[in-house]
Amino acid sequence: MTNQFESNVQSRRTFAIISHPDAGKTTLTEQLLLFGGAIRDAGTVKGKKTGKFATSDWMEIEKQRGISVTSSVMQFSYDDYHVNILDTPGHQDFSEDTYRTLMAVDSAVMIIDSAKGIEPQTLKLFKVCKLRGIPIFTFINKLDRQGKDPLALLEELEEVLGIQSYPMNWPIGMGKEFLGVYDRYRNRIEYSKTEGQDRFIPLNSDGEIDGDHPIKQDPLYDQLLEEVLLLNEAGNEFSKERIANGELTPVFFGSALTNFGVQTFLESYLEFAPSPQPRKTEEGEYVSPLNETFSGFIFKIQANMNPAHRDRIAFLRICSGQFERGMQVTIPRTGKTIRLSQSTQFLADDRTTVNDAVSGDIIGIYDTGNYQIGDTLIGGKDSYHFEKLPQFTPELFMKVTAKNVMKQKHFYKGIDQLVQEGAIQYYRTLRTEEIILGAVGQLQFEVFEHRMKNEYNVDVVMQNVGNKIARWIENEKDVNENMSSSRSLLVKDRVGQLVFLFENDFALRWFQDKHPSIRLYSLI
Ligand code: G4P
Repeated sequence: MTNQFESNVQSRRTFAIISHPDAGKTTLTEQLLLFGGAIRDAGTVKGKKTGKFATSDWMEIEKQRGISVTSSVMQFSYDDYHVNILDTPGHQDFSEDTYRTLMAVDSAVMIIDSAKGIEPQTLKLFKVCKLRGIPIFTFINKLDRQGKDPLALLEELEEVLGIQSYPMNWPIGMGKEFLGVYDRYRNRIEYSKTEGQDRFIPLNSDGEIDGDHPIKQDPLYDQLLEEVLLLNEAGNEFSKERIANGELTPVFFGSALTNFGVQTFLESYLEFAPSPQPRKTEEGEYVSPLNETFSGFIFKIQANMNPAHRDRIAFLRICSGQFERGMQVTIPRTGKTIRLSQSTQFLADDRTTVNDAVSGDIIGIYDTGNYQIGDTLIGGKDSYHFEKLPQFTPELFMKVTAKNVMKQKHFYKGIDQLVQEGAIQYYRTLRTEEIILGAVGQLQFEVFEHRMKNEYNVDVVMQNVGNKIARWIENEKDVNENMSSSRSLLVKDRVGQLVFLFENDFALRWFQDKHPSIRLYSLI
């Protein structure tokens, strides 16, 4: 294909933002979209104050709770770059959606509240990024408030997350005394007391300000020079390769709310973040993003994103080639050929029709029941499957029944579709055939209940069966039903594989002692 295609692909940057709730993900996203001109007003993404709802808040439950339940996608352009931001829900409850979203990106931006440091949610999401070895960029936020000592924050990164860091800039003071940042990469100071181009004070080759400047009178300036010297001498070395391998995280200090350091962060991110990367197939080959044949995989399916349309959208990450409306693709899983006539891109203002999507982009395609999460789509005659998306071992379980027995048909249809979407995991007890649902986070149950009522018109009764440890079995033929008990309940999953649900760690160990020949395993 043309050089134009290649440069289009090279201009793509696709990342997810990971953070703990309240670290400032929405605020930062909004600033990035403002720079990209994708939105005009602050408050478009986050609508708490304006009464508007966040762009990503599609579902009714989100509106009611003012939170974003599902991961969403936003796109904007900046300079010659085309950026896809994939949102990961920031609330306490986790879903598998969140994890799968991280499979569709080439890098991640991790936001840390400077007063809080590494929080549990950040750690969980970080681990998934680490597993994939994708580059992680760190933005330490809320410098306009008093936070932890910057050196202590770097130490925390290394100790808690086990990743080395390279501060791209260094804060000068904090909170009320925040004077700006020392930009180590561009050799300048970004000064918070002046606007426009005066905001940037160039430094000489020793990394100091030549001539007079009011900032030099401040004791914080001397302290800064000492700290920078320490970083230069004792800190990690900058390495593009190690950033690309996810071994070293570039760290940026700033304040999303006051929009300080955000633009520099964005520009550095775009410079160092990878363009779309090759994707591995189950057959062990890699598909290059510059390959002309269209391919991609579905990492998320969501029904009724827009209640007015009652639609179901499959989110597709393009891995190679160029998307053209009306093109034919094959799903190797089913062998079915489908014409992609209705598709959508996710601009912050609204959903618009896709014009020119290439490798790296995320598009939404309308689904009439053809797709499953993890499906590969191929535009040519080839047949392969991209590597399986990981399934996560659920920890929470509920028995579920329909309140009204007359509604059984709707009940099963709803369960079927929501399970297929990957919204929740499904199990059935062996003899009694009761349905047990499994989730990674409590909110998944609430969303399930809500959607069953709103989309399938079924009231469900949910009975908590508590936390369980789920283990699949390598040698199923050696398992018999007598091994099942209330403490080690034997069930079947969606595809009919046997699973033990253990009451706790003790029950698991007891079982393993008693049946050493049964080989158990967990998902991720
Ligand atoms: P989230 O999406 O990660 O959950 O965080 P969000 O952006 O919603 O920010 C959480 C809170 O932190 C918000 O305040 C927001 O204004 C504030 N915040 C974000 N970035 C900064 C920053 O750089 N400095 C300071 N000082 N605060 C910041 P809130 O009071 O909870 O919400 P709201 O009343 O502003 O909507």
